[in-house]
Amino acid sequence: MASITFSLLLSLLFAFTDAGSIGINYGRVANDLPTPSKVVELLKSQGIDRVKLYDTDSDVLTALANSGIGVVVALPNELLSSTANDQSFADKWVQANISQYYPKTKIEAIAVGNEVFVDPNNTTKFLVPAMKNIHTSLSKYNLNDSIKISSPIALSALQSSYPSSSGSFKTELVGPVIKPMLDLLRQTSSYLMVNAYPFFAYIDNSDTIPLAYALFQTNAGTVDSGNGLRCNSLLEAQIDAVYAAMNALGYNDVKLVVTETGWPSKGDENEIGATQANAASYNGNLVRRVLTGSGTPKHLRTPLNVFLFALFNENEKSGPTSERNYGLFYPSEEKVYDIPLTKAEVNGGVQSTTPANGTNSTTEISPAGEVSKTSVGQTWCVANGNVGEEKLQTALDYACGEGGADCRPIQEGSTCYDPNSLVAHASYAFNSYYQKKARLIGSCDFGGAAYVATQPPKFGQCEFPTGY
Ligand SMILES: *[C@@H]1O[C@H](CO)[C@@H](O)[C@H](O)[C@H]1NC(C)=O
Ligand SMILES: *[C@@H]1O[C@H](CO)[C@@H](O)[C@H](O)[C@H]1NC(C)=O
Ligand SMILES: *[C@@H]1O[C@H](CO)[C@@H](O)[C@H](O)[C@H]1NC(C)=O
Ligand SMILES: *[C@@H]1O[C@H](CO)[C@@H](O)[C@H](O)[C@H]1NC(C)=O
Ligand SMILES: *[C@@H]1O[C@H](CO)[C@@H](O)[C@H](O)[C@H]1NC(C)=O
Ligand SMILES: *[C@@H]1O[C@H](CO)[C@@H](O)[C@H](O)[C@H]1NC(C)=O
Repeated sequence: MASITFSLLLSLLFAFTDAGSIGINYGRVANDLPTPSKVVELLKSQGIDRVKLYDTDSDVLTALANSGIGVVVALPNELLSSTANDQSFADKWVQANISQYYPKTKIEAIAVGNEVFVDPNNTTKFLVPAMKNIHTSLSKYNLNDSIKISSPIALSALQSSYPSSSGSFKTELVGPVIKPMLDLLRQTSSYLMVNAYPFFAYIDNSDTIPLAYALFQTNAGTVDSGNGLRCNSLLEAQIDAVYAAMNALGYNDVKLVVTETGWPSKGDENEIGATQANAASYNGNLVRRVLTGSGTPKHLRTPLNVFLFALFNENEKSGPTSERNYGLFYPSEEKVYDIPLTKAEVNGGVQSTTPANGTNSTTEISPAGEVSKTSVGQTWCVANGNVGEEKLQTALDYACGEGGADCRPIQEGSTCYDPNSLVAHASYAFNSYYQKKARLIGSCDFGGAAYVATQPPKFGQCEFPTGY
């Protein structure tokens, strides 16, 4: 009975959940980048089907035409006041920069401004009026249903983000801009754009934040004292804080996209953690995480949609060394490090996940201080204690029954019976199922009761096989 219900649930889930999508930010603050048409070839060769720009450069939009690549374009902050104050300016902008290219260039959304609340030119008051005018202009061209409008916010828009369940927006922003913006996003079926960088939180608090937690590696995670949910990565905790902030204002129906996240491969001496190995770990694990299709602890069923920052190292960016080293690629188009970017590569296994010139193993210090050695590229499936006993038990019954997992080792008297806990037993069974399915995308989900880990689970003396 239980397993029938569960497999029904499973098939329903697969019927209408996406796996989550990976896009990439194509920033161009550099004097040595390949031509736009070469860049489009690069994107295609990497299987990247979503890209985000910081403007509406005509060469770039033309090069992207007929590529099938979805594009988020931007209206720069400098144009916010004119756009807000003058509907005809907005109309002309949409005509010259959007409608001329659409639909050949698959423009999916317009980021109206970027991190506007921290713009030193105080453009915040223009934001919502500018978004409204652009939306009105899109309607004039019948594009308002096909092209969304939003505006990426920085995490600094939050007053509180820890624990995640206490997330709230800065009081002074709520009335003037957050509520009117969320109203508009809701009304136009759009989504909140969020730029989130665990790296920044980590460099400021490297004494308290375990690196493994920031890099999506196996770690004890944190338990939110407000709602009891366990979270295993800093990015998910940050996203859940934004969800909580929206929820507190009554906007729990507005969706969210991470429009920027990344980790630099190089930094100044004080930029602790800015290394090639950590960047490969963060971005590689993030891609694997997103492509499993499960969401954050607060919204397990909502797949994550993420744009990595960034496509290239950008040599003309100012600021610390890290700013010029977020790229996945050098301007030569050579990879800075090798990570999977597509489902096929994730499923393909070891080769594509080995860092370009790294070693095949990394040493991580867990929050408890123990050192464990693990191989890069291997993944395991682990039970998610957050979903509650009933769901875990149902999923465990399914895995050991119809699912065909090898559950002999978790029987009483066998090697993996201890510790005798539901999470430990379910992890063993889920991992067996996942490995038997050759780590196929979607085979470590169990309706949110499981997640993919890049280090083997640790339960007593139990060994978790990676092949059957
Ligand atoms: C976009 O539209 C504006 C206003 O019509 C125009 O001045 C500008 O050159 C266009 N291109 C870009 C990249 O903004
Ligand atoms: C602020 O506005 C001035 C004048 O329009 C412009 O030159 C400058 O680039 C703007 N600064 C930023 C950070 O947008
Ligand atoms: C922005 O606002 C701050 C605080 O109100 C003010 O000190 C500053 O001069 C303003 N900057 C510009 C460019 O208007
Ligand atoms: C687009 O405009 C049409 C006509 O004004 C309207 O019916 C529709 O609801 C709009 N769609 C969105 C997403 O705003
Ligand atoms: C990895 O390779 C890049 C380019 O080939 C080089 O610049 C970098 O120093 C190398 N890193 C290590 C750790 O060897
Ligand atoms: C990593 O493993 C691959 C495949 O097993 C092997 O070909 C490669 O030489 C190894 N690289 C290092 C640096 O050990």
